[in-house]
Amino acid sequence: MAGQVISGAFDSVVVRQKSDAKLEIGQLLTAETSQGKVLLQAFNLVYGSQLSQQNLEMISGMKLESDNDLELMDAELRNYTLAFLKPLLLLQNETIRVCKTLPDFFSNVNELEMEDIKFLEKPKNPLLLGNLRSGSKIVDADVYLNGAEVFSHHVLITAQTGRGKSNLMSCLILSALQSDYSGFLILDPHDEYYGRNKTGLKDASGKVVYYTPNNPPAGARTLTINISKIRPSHFNGVTFWSDPQKEALYAYYRKYKAKWIEAILIEEDESLKSLFHEATIAVVKRRLLQLLNLELSNNEIYSKGIFDVNSGISTVSDIADDLENSKAVIIDTSSLSSQIEILVGSIISSELFGRYQNYKTTGELKDKPVVSLVLEEAPRVLGKDVLEQGPNVFSRIAREGRKFKVGLIAITQLPSVIPRQILANIGTKIILGIEMAPERKAIIESSAQDLSQDDKAIASLDIGEAIVTSTFSKFAVPVKIPLFETLITSKETNYKTEFVGLRS
Ligand SMILES: Nc1ncnc2c1ncn2[C@@H]1O[C@H](COP(=O)(O)OP(=O)(O)O)[C@@H](O)[C@H]1O
Ligand SMILES: [Mg+2]
Repeated sequence: MAGQVISGAFDSVVVRQKSDAKLEIGQLLTAETSQGKVLLQAFNLVYGSQLSQQNLEMISGMKLESDNDLELMDAELRNYTLAFLKPLLLLQNETIRVCKTLPDFFSNVNELEMEDIKFLEKPKNPLLLGNLRSGSKIVDADVYLNGAEVFSHHVLITAQTGRGKSNLMSCLILSALQSDYSGFLILDPHDEYYGRNKTGLKDASGKVVYYTPNNPPAGARTLTINISKIRPSHFNGVTFWSDPQKEALYAYYRKYKAKWIEAILIEEDESLKSLFHEATIAVVKRRLLQLLNLELSNNEIYSKGIFDVNSGISTVSDIADDLENSKAVIIDTSSLSSQIEILVGSIISSELFGRYQNYKTTGELKDKPVVSLVLEEAPRVLGKDVLEQGPNVFSRIAREGRKFKVGLIAITQLPSVIPRQILANIGTKIILGIEMAPERKAIIESSAQDLSQDDKAIASLDIGEAIVTSTFSKFAVPVKIPLFETLITSKETNYKTEFVGLRS
């Protein structure tokens, strides 16, 4: 037994801790009600005493000043710890419900036992989140959610640097690739996911495809995209064009379709040119050359980067094919500018989104896997300042992707700069340690479950410790994320065979 219920309110049940139980913040406990056991979580601890403050001060003074080994009679009876708990769930045999009643007065509060978590089971399309965590103790039970539901309704992974966001992302993909319910497009600005020179997703599954602009290792592909695949709309979220510039882009696109960029750069169309200021066309031309890293010489276009006039025709559709086949396509963008990285993401996402919209019309969508777009530093495309300049394909996916089985996995240290509306649209949030109060506030306010009492718990999450709040879970689940390298090399590979999960 860990304690006894003595007072409080529904959202803050006060428990007197038994003297030998050492409760901690975040710890999971149970208590009896007439309807079953309630699962509770500690969110605060305070001192309690039968002695008055004055007496306590006096006794302390005697101990401190007169070197006296005075001991209180029945010390455990008189001084104790009070724990504040919030109810998470009502456990009824193997089903769980939202808890709506208080535990009985004086009911015993117990530490979590394995039989209390029988409700954790293997869902369809299992996605391993990690071990259940009770405070800082790891419970020997895996937590799973339905990955197809989770990924199609978007995921936010938030923490400050070094708390384990990338490791978590790798673990999620590793788990999802054991099944075929989701493909992943990973824009990788740190070239850390594939594992060029270390353990990485390449060691996880045969379903990992790697594109890099630099020295592709054996089995990898060179990242080259033909400029005919670019549409003016792909620049939304990448760069800002003035209205006349935009009009020029679209006018060339309407007339020349796939050849529109060449037509602007080579400048032979006098009739179209005459519709715009000479300066406008000149600026558009200069900016396109610079953005796409192209060079013009004797009216010939040369490629200095990943965009090419001749090669790379099938890259975008190859990638979309792979995504439709539940593969993880990793694009090494470490040597690209942030703008080009986003442009690449925008081109591929638009292709895929277009295909999936079409599948919805033809009725084929139900047989397709979800496709998730993994975005590091997500505010680059979902930040308030970017979206003020207009929507882009990523904000569009955030808004309506779920209807088409296209989801975002937004990774960020700064959830507060993502508009509320978008945050609220993200079904699952995985919160690792966040020290900055405004960031915690933004995430707490947009969570699927009430985390208003968890501010301290979030601030004190250690590396790899997370709280998962999801519309697909009945409560905010505390988990410990495994370390990717350990997960992948673990001999038992029990993540492959043994699935338990959250039943909702
Ligand atoms: N779940 C975990 N368990 C143990 N150590 C971890 C865990 N996640 C991350 N780490 C450690 O922290 C380091 C930083 O993790 P990383 O995922 O790169 O953080 P972020 O992407 O948030 O900056 C890793 O190199 C690893 O050593
Ligand atoms: Mg990282």
